[in-house]
Amino acid sequence: VLAIWHQFIKNEIPELSKCSVLMRDRARVEETIYSMKRTGPSGLQVISDFDMTLTRFSYKGQRVPTTHNILDNRLLIDEDCEKKIKRLLNTYYPIEIDAQLSPEQKQPLMVEWWSKVHELLIEQKIRKNMLERVVRESGSRLREGYREFFDLLSELQVPLLIFSAGIGDVLEEVIRQNNVFHPNVNVISNYMDFDAAGVLQAFKGQLIHTFNKREGALLHGARLRGRPNVLLLGDSLGDLNMADGLSNTEHILTIGFLNDQVEERKESYVKSFDIVLVKDETLEIPNVILKNIL
Ligand code: TMP
Ligand code: MG
Repeated sequence: VLAIWHQFIKNEIPELSKCSVLMRDRARVEETIYSMKRTGPSGLQVISDFDMTLTRFSYKGQRVPTTHNILDNRLLIDEDCEKKIKRLLNTYYPIEIDAQLSPEQKQPLMVEWWSKVHELLIEQKIRKNMLERVVRESGSRLREGYREFFDLLSELQVPLLIFSAGIGDVLEEVIRQNNVFHPNVNVISNYMDFDAAGVLQAFKGQLIHTFNKREGALLHGARLRGRPNVLLLGDSLGDLNMADGLSNTEHILTIGFLNDQVEERKESYVKSFDIVLVKDETLEIPNVILKNIL
């Protein structure tokens, strides 16, 4: 009977059979989706990372800019600053995705990276009123299927928490320009603090980097409570901590985008996420799962 049952559920989501979809335990994934479906939209919330999770990793052979990299525009920063930020990226990004280093080893280095970049940005006296244009001129791109993803959650009033170590002001502008900043969307991120003249003077609150999302989740826990079923999307192992502020969860289904260093990181991703999407630039699988649950 169980075998027939599994077969039945399996046929409901044929997309999970694609070779870019890896699962440690497919039966458990399907059972979780089925349990979430029984509770329905009123019990569900979605928590998602932003850069390289809701946005594409690359497009037409070029890397898509993260919220930090969107600021790389001569309207905001000079050539010298651009070079320094690029140098920092080339130093620290390989550390961020290094399969050989533990999150604990990465933590202090990520604090260094973010602090140095934020200091440079403050030195540049970035003006708030330029952000709209800079985002418009950037090559920022949400993943294919983003409209369906955002619209579906909004229509069914499922809260979407975007939890990003990027820059909140830039992130909000990206989703606003794509017309998907719906009322069900909440953002936890690094926000810029502008002075009265609209010039960047600091960053607000506690710094969020890729490997301290647990602290952020505990700090902002109140915004996460109330719905027992969670769909979590991320592209870094650090993103798995985004739901740590939750109590009374029933089911958590985690989806990880494996964009880069695929062979080196495959094993750890499959061990840690329920579903791993390998070099998939779309939101097809999250959308299929949502349509199944909702
Ligand atoms: P996320 O939490 O929304 O994914 O945002 C964090 C990403 O931002 C992380 O993967 C590294 C990236 N990043 C840059 O691209 N440039 C930078 O200068 C910094 C500090 C981070
Ligand atoms: Mg990310």
